[in-house]
Amino acid sequence: MKISVIGTGYLGATHAACLAELGHDVVGLDTDPLKIESLAAGELPFFEPGLAELLNRHVGTGRLRFTTSYEEVGAWAEVHFLGVGTPQRQGEGSADTSFVEAAVRSLAETITRDALIVGKSTVPVGTTQRLREVLRRHQDPSVEIGLAWNPEFLREGFAVQDTLHPDRIVVGVEDAAHERTLKAVYSAAEEQGVPFIVTDFETAELVKVAANAFLATKISFINALSEITETVGGDIQTLAAGLGLDERIGPKFLRAGLGFGGGCLPKDIRALQARASELGHERSMRFLSEVEDINLRRRERAVFLATAMLGELRGKKVAALGAAFKPNSDDVRDSPALDVAVRLFDAGAEVAVYDPKANFNAARRFPRLRYEESLAAAVADADLILVLTEWDEFKSMSPESLALLTPARKIVDARNVFSGDRWNSAGWEFAALGRKH
Ligand code: UGA
Repeated sequence: MKISVIGTGYLGATHAACLAELGHDVVGLDTDPLKIESLAAGELPFFEPGLAELLNRHVGTGRLRFTTSYEEVGAWAEVHFLGVGTPQRQGEGSADTSFVEAAVRSLAETITRDALIVGKSTVPVGTTQRLREVLRRHQDPSVEIGLAWNPEFLREGFAVQDTLHPDRIVVGVEDAAHERTLKAVYSAAEEQGVPFIVTDFETAELVKVAANAFLATKISFINALSEITETVGGDIQTLAAGLGLDERIGPKFLRAGLGFGGGCLPKDIRALQARASELGHERSMRFLSEVEDINLRRRERAVFLATAMLGELRGKKVAALGAAFKPNSDDVRDSPALDVAVRLFDAGAEVAVYDPKANFNAARRFPRLRYEESLAAAVADADLILVLTEWDEFKSMSPESLALLTPARKIVDARNVFSGDRWNSAGWEFAALGRKH
């Protein structure tokens, strides 16, 4: 099929490359000519395992092209996916849908053949109905342009795998023909037996934000229990294992630690609260503000542990291992790791940050911190080491291997990746979130 993907950020670039992998002819469109230039040359402007290879392969096969021209895709594609961002509005919790609206308007003004526009961005419930109005006002009435919503559930770090092998496909449609079109786009997934949920616009929009809100709640639930185990002397990881073996609960997203960050979970729980309030249901989603408070308190706790170990932070040298919001990503948006590093710096510590992929993005956001190009350089003169993102490179450290690189014998494991007993018996002072050992 001839498919365009509007917006070639994280979501759009992944979707475009994966659709080409599925055999479709794909054009990625972005209004940023620099982004288009680099993608057309096979260069990915961000880090995502496996995606650069896919991009290169299909730029090579000719199944994947890039453009800045709406006229070009409007005359050519039969399906247009929207992958533009819905950032948090400045000073408010709500999501800014103006980029989605602008994209639909541009498509409406340039589509010259019958086509289906399919939204993938995370939007407040009610957006698709509003977009229908935008379409109606701006489209050529002699062409038929349909609208559908098909939220994306991919995770950074697993974007290719999640797109090619999703655990479900949800589509909001108002017309059986649009459902058939989307089933044809995703025929490979259907053959793999991936559940296909067909519903209305509103439910499709809500499934996405509900999923992210639930995941955030699950993380904060276990982190709230960490506050209790820290006081009574229990072990949060054993508690999580005991909980997660109940099939109704499940073990995933019960990893206690520094909490959630990134471009999605924090923004989406704020946007859902804002939308619920607009709809007169402020109380329904009020608990999400507690979910966020718990999340932020974990960062304070990490700083508290560092302070307790060092006596005071002023003048002390601290190595912050990790800046990305999670491993296998160079994304530092709302990153708990980077936030802790900045808090330590603000409290007077000298902070050396090392992240295998995110140094560059972190330095752009917080140039005041010192960034080192290797683990060895970051810990070389440290008084204390904090593990803030659970990269494999950090998880593979042992007390003995690290002791060869640093004079420090104090470590805070803010992602619960080590056994405290092991580090204690090797002579290290060890602290973690939610457990003593
Ligand atoms: C999240 C969702 O998981 C995706 O399904 C969704 O499509 C995406 O947002 C989106 O809306 O675009 P992502 O932001 O890539 O994906 O990251 P997650 O893997 O969900 O992790 C989010 C944060 O939670 C990370 O900071 C991670 O370290 C933290 N986390 C995760 C925990 O602290 N504990 C856990 O048990 C799991």
